[in-house]
Amino acid sequence: MLESEKFKNMQNRKCYAYIIAGVVFQTIIILVFALTVMRIKTPSVRLRSVTVQNLTYNASNSPAFFTLTLNAEIAVKNKNFGHFRFEKSTANVTFANAVVGDGDIIKGRAKARKTKRMNVAIDVSSNGVVIDGAKLNNELNSGNLTLTCLSRLRGKVTLMKMMKKRKTADMNCTMTVDLKSQAVHVLDCE
Ligand SMILES: *[C@@H]1O[C@H](CO)[C@@H](O)[C@H](O)[C@H]1NC(C)=O
Ligand SMILES: *[C@@H]1O[C@H](CO)[C@@H](O)[C@H](O)[C@H]1NC(C)=O
Ligand SMILES: *[C@@H]1O[C@H](CO)[C@@H](O)[C@H](O)[C@H]1NC(C)=O
Ligand SMILES: *[C@@H]1O[C@H](CO)[C@@H](O)[C@H](O)[C@H]1NC(C)=O
Ligand SMILES: *[C@@H]1O[C@H](CO)[C@@H](O)[C@H](O)[C@H]1NC(C)=O
Repeated sequence: MLESEKFKNMQNRKCYAYIIAGVVFQTIIILVFALTVMRIKTPSVRLRSVTVQNLTYNASNSPAFFTLTLNAEIAVKNKNFGHFRFEKSTANVTFANAVVGDGDIIKGRAKARKTKRMNVAIDVSSNGVVIDGAKLNNELNSGNLTLTCLSRLRGKVTLMKMMKKRKTADMNCTMTVDLKSQAVHVLDCE
């Protein structure tokens, strides 16, 4: 073999090594990309804060009752690298599994890696609702009322303006309302 040919062979081998290294590098980049940026996570929905207004109740009345207005701030947290667009929905307030009020959540959009906040006012009343009377009396006499706020947001996450995936985000928050002070003591979301 001529010296020049040997040299050419060596050059070729070096060239192949570079190509393989390049392919491996690209594969790793694509893999990392697929596992982070392209992975679509379900957004979370929770109540960030709640205040109570116009609370009235009477445990001695027959039937016992309560009415109040909840002013809730709902936070839709979107960890994706693309926006989450959700349809209009309803937030239900329940007492002992019975719906005692509902409020409208207007359709909206949580930007990429951002939290969208919305205010919702919900009129709550036990009047005319079939309710666990023993539990109601018990709670009204204890001075604390336990309410749950449930909602389901259906929508789509869009990545890079073309990849779309349906996602459904559920909210399930429980709160304790102090009947005397109208303060919300505990606010826990699943
Ligand atoms: C609550 O009470 C305020 C006055 O304290 C009143 O302006 C408002 O209309 C009441 N809201 C509801 C929903 O009844
Ligand atoms: C609660 O209801 C009872 C029985 O209807 C009534 O006598 C009482 O005045 C009511 N209390 C209040 C604070 O409205
Ligand atoms: C209501 O619950 C809160 C927190 O659990 C507690 O600190 C408070 O004392 C309770 N209020 C009454 C009247 O029981
Ligand atoms: C809210 O309540 C209505 C009926 O009152 C029910 O159809 C709906 O599924 C409830 N939504 C949630 C999220 O629980
Ligand atoms: C909401 O969460 C509570 C636990 O904190 C659970 O017992 C209940 O079944 C949940 N409700 C829904 C509708 O998922």
